[in-house]
Amino acid sequence: MFLCLALSMASRPTNPKQNPRLASRLPIDHPTSGHFPPLTPPNKVTSYKYTKRTATMATPSKDQAEVILVGCGAPLRGMGWYHAVQMLGGECPSARLCHVVEPWFLGAGASGPGGAEFAEFQTKTSAEHMVMFHKSLSDVPPVVDGVRRLALISGRTADNPKLLSEAIAAGCSTVYLEKPGAPTVAELKSMKAEAESAGVSICMGYNKNVCKYVRKAREFAASNGPESHVTFVSNNTYEPTASSLGECFERNAEGMLKNMAIHELALLASFYDVTVDNIEEVVVDEGFSSLQTLKGPSGKEFTDFDKVKFTIKTKTGKSVSVQADRCGGDVSYATVSDPSGAELFRHCMPDAEDEGNVSVLQAKYPGAMPYFFSQDPDYITVKERVARLCAVGDEATDIATIDIAIAALEVGEYLTGLMKERLSK
Ligand SMILES: NC(=O)c1ccc[n+]([C@@H]2O[C@H](COP(=O)([O-])OP(=O)(O)OC[C@H]3O[C@@H](n4cnc5c(N)ncnc54)[C@H](O)[C@@H]3O)[C@@H](O)[C@H]2O)c1
Repeated sequence: MFLCLALSMASRPTNPKQNPRLASRLPIDHPTSGHFPPLTPPNKVTSYKYTKRTATMATPSKDQAEVILVGCGAPLRGMGWYHAVQMLGGECPSARLCHVVEPWFLGAGASGPGGAEFAEFQTKTSAEHMVMFHKSLSDVPPVVDGVRRLALISGRTADNPKLLSEAIAAGCSTVYLEKPGAPTVAELKSMKAEAESAGVSICMGYNKNVCKYVRKAREFAASNGPESHVTFVSNNTYEPTASSLGECFERNAEGMLKNMAIHELALLASFYDVTVDNIEEVVVDEGFSSLQTLKGPSGKEFTDFDKVKFTIKTKTGKSVSVQADRCGGDVSYATVSDPSGAELFRHCMPDAEDEGNVSVLQAKYPGAMPYFFSQDPDYITVKERVARLCAVGDEATDIATIDIAIAALEVGEYLTGLMKERLSK
């Protein structure tokens, strides 16, 4: 079914006149227009038989999860904001956004940068979609009998362990946890234990697990035979200057391998059995990889990679490569090569089919983070699968588990040490 969903999304027209899904992409101004597939309008208030809700609260249908978005962030900037836009636009039929918890913009950040834009978003979203806004998860009303509650946690990574505990206390049965989930492996492991003992499922927001270029490369490699070698290439658009990279190093102080390339490490853990214990050998491309020590905006120095390339061979006989470049541009891709290194296949994100969708979204949300648009269908797919798991118990196919997140972060910590040592020689 999920494959069908992915295929149907892939084959939809990208002209908004042909594609009602794109035409309905202004949830604030056009809250009930043309959903794809048809579903209850997001702002319709139902008298759900199990609830004692007031007439001004968004209410999930019996096939929907009641979503609490934790960490909306600033409009156009925050990942959480884009998750909200997709749910309010009816893109995830199994997810009804009912509550937004925003500690910063409803607290100390209200009068700072982004505060006014957040307030405007709150006013419109409350009025048009009956979503309730709260400063803390403890302010959310108790879950009512028969409702399946999902927390989508998209806050700052360091706050996640505390937010998970609060989401469990708020009666959530499922948690969608944005990557990487926590700053350290130790914290992720204790979050896993806490969720397990509360009977709560955690699904990770590793959207590259479901994205088209990864799927196409894996499919090609599988059809081409066991000699096929896959390389995942991830690029960012920083300027190759000390000030641009210094700002990047400071803002993403956990380091490239636990931040940008963590998506690829999650792919390796999900599909190539890569764990620290199962690594046979790491071959570092020392000609490509680069470690720099640069000053951030605070004046403090940070040592991090601006480029990495490596191949991991596992004890179970698999081999896969990753290349990540902070200044590589705005296209990421995967290749499949033969044993001589000759490239047999490449698929890019965005591809020609995606570019129409990207242009439509750019016009609708000018100034928003560019990656929202190229990865838009993948964010929808992950949210819908997690919401369906929460609402009706369907398996969340290919969605990364917390075990995958632990394995990926563990590999990230291991590789950071190993590669720093090799490149410092
Ligand atoms: N899957 C993806 O492709 C993807 C992409 C980007 C981010 N993410 C993840 O999503 C999560 C949120 O990322 P983001 O970029 O939206 O983060 P963000 O820092 O912009 O916002 C997250 C939260 O931080 C708080 N905040 C914002 N500004 C603050 C400030 N100046 N001081 C203190 N708190 C502040 C707000 O409560 C906000 O909701 C992270 O886990 C990140 O790794 C995932």
